Amino acid sequence: MFGLLYETPPEWVARVEATSLLDLLGDHAHCELKAAATMQALVAKNPGIPDIVQKLPRVAMEELEHFERVEAELRQRGGTLREADTSPYADGLHRGSSATRTSLLLDRLLISHLIEARSAERFHLLATHLQDRSLAALYQELLPSESVHRVLFLRLAQAIFPEAKVNDRLEVLRRMEAELVPTLPFEPRVHSGPGGGAAA
Ligand SMILES: [Fe+2]
Ligand SMILES: [Fe+2]
Repeated sequence: MFGLLYETPPEWVARVEATSLLDLLGDHAHCELKAAATMQALVAKNPGIPDIVQKLPRVAMEELEHFERVEAELRQRGGTLREADTSPYADGLHRGSSATRTSLLLDRLLISHLIEARSAERFHLLATHLQDRSLAALYQELLPSESVHRVLFLRLAQAIFPEAKVNDRLEVLRRMEAELVPTLPFEPRVHSGPGGGAAA
């Protein structure tokens, strides 16, 4: 599901819920902010590509709306937004891609596609398995939008680059992502490792 090669075990949700839902929400709020910043940077760096200039500002606004929604939920639950932590997931993807990439823009679009896909996978798991059904409802509400973003980034790559080049590079990055996720440490964060000794 979601076009990913590594499937997160549902036990990840129980680990998150047993650790800290406030930490999950704080991390999630920062993910939405970073997503909006990434889209704005893509527009600023590619002013000559109409598809990017015309489509990504709307997505950036949606991500900021998600930020507002998640930050409000965090606050209602007694949490406060803290400074962003570095992301071993996003850092790992960018480091992995830079070793073999031929186009910075193609890799940025495909990495955004994969991050949206992994977010959608995690939101789906949270919506299905969280015992806190009110938070599950929030993830159910946000899931369709991340699924639309996932497809949009792939379509953008396909509109700008030759199909074979997109397909070949996507296979490389998809494999790299699937190898990275199980090696990440477990934390109550949207893109953390699965925990439970899965990296062994
Ligand atoms: Fe979002
Ligand atoms: Fe998104």
